[in-house]
Amino acid sequence: MSAGQRAGQANPGHVAIIMDGNGRWAQMRGLPRQEGHRRGLEALRGAVRNAGELGVKILTLYSFSTENWRRPATEVSFLLGLLKRFVEKDLGQLHAAGVRVRVIGGRDDLAADIRRLVEHAETVTRDNTRMTLVVAFNYGSRDEIVRAARQLATDAAAGRIDAAAIDEAMLASRLDTADLPDPELVIRTSGETRISNFLLWQAAYAEFVFTPVLWPDFDRAAFEEALAEYGRRERRFGGLSEPVDRAAGAA
Ligand code: FPP
Repeated sequence: MSAGQRAGQANPGHVAIIMDGNGRWAQMRGLPRQEGHRRGLEALRGAVRNAGELGVKILTLYSFSTENWRRPATEVSFLLGLLKRFVEKDLGQLHAAGVRVRVIGGRDDLAADIRRLVEHAETVTRDNTRMTLVVAFNYGSRDEIVRAARQLATDAAAGRIDAAAIDEAMLASRLDTADLPDPELVIRTSGETRISNFLLWQAAYAEFVFTPVLWPDFDRAAFEEALAEYGRRERRFGGLSEPVDRAAGAA
C-alpha cells in the first residue's frame, strides 16, 4: 500500500456495507418488520447491480450476524428464508452476470440445507471474474478471529507450524476472507455509527461512511454519494500525506 493517496482517488475496489434500518423503514410506514426485510432484499439486489456498474469489484454485505440469532424466532426464520430465496431465485442471474458468490461466517452451526445451498452457490460461481459478492451470513468478526486462532493453535500443537512464526499474514490466511483483499470503504446505513463486530481485522485501514439513509432506501444515488465521500477522503495508512524529505529531516 502506498502512503499519501490523495483525494480524488478512484472508486474503491472493495466496498463492505452494514445494511441497517429495515425495521425502522417498516415501522415508519406502519408495516410489519418483515416487509422492511423484504424491501431490504430488493435494495440488496439493487446494490449488487449498482456496484457492478460503478466499477466496484468486490461487494461485501452484512446480511446476518452471529448476534442476530437473539431476535425473535419468527424474524430469524424469516431472514433465513430470505437468504434461501435469494440464493435459489437469483443465483442463475448472478452467475450469468459473471458474479462470483462467496459466503463468510461460521458454517458448522448452520442447518444442513442452508449449508448445502451456500456451498452450491460458491461452487457454481467460483470461476466468475466480473465481480465478487461476499455475503456475510452467521458472521461475527470475533467469532471469525477465534476460529482462526483455534486453527493456528491446533496446527502448532500438532507441530505443523511453529508458534513463534505466527504473524499477521498467517492469521489473515486463516480468516474466512483469506482470499479477499481488505475493504477500502465500509458503509453503514440508518444513521448508526457502530462497527457491530463486522470485519474488525479487515477494516483496520478502511474509510467509514455513515449515512442516515435506511437500507431499503439505499439506492443508486445514495451509493454514488457514499463513493463520492470516499473520494474526498485522504488515505495515509499511518504514514504522512506528503513524502518525507529525508535529507531535510536529517538536517
Ligand atoms: C438490519 O435491519 C438488517 C438486517 C438484520 C438484515 C439485513 C437483511 C436484508 C438486507 C434482507 C436480505 C436478507 C438476507 C439474509 C439475504 P434491522 O432489522 O436491524 O433494522 P432496525 O435497526 O431498523 O430494526
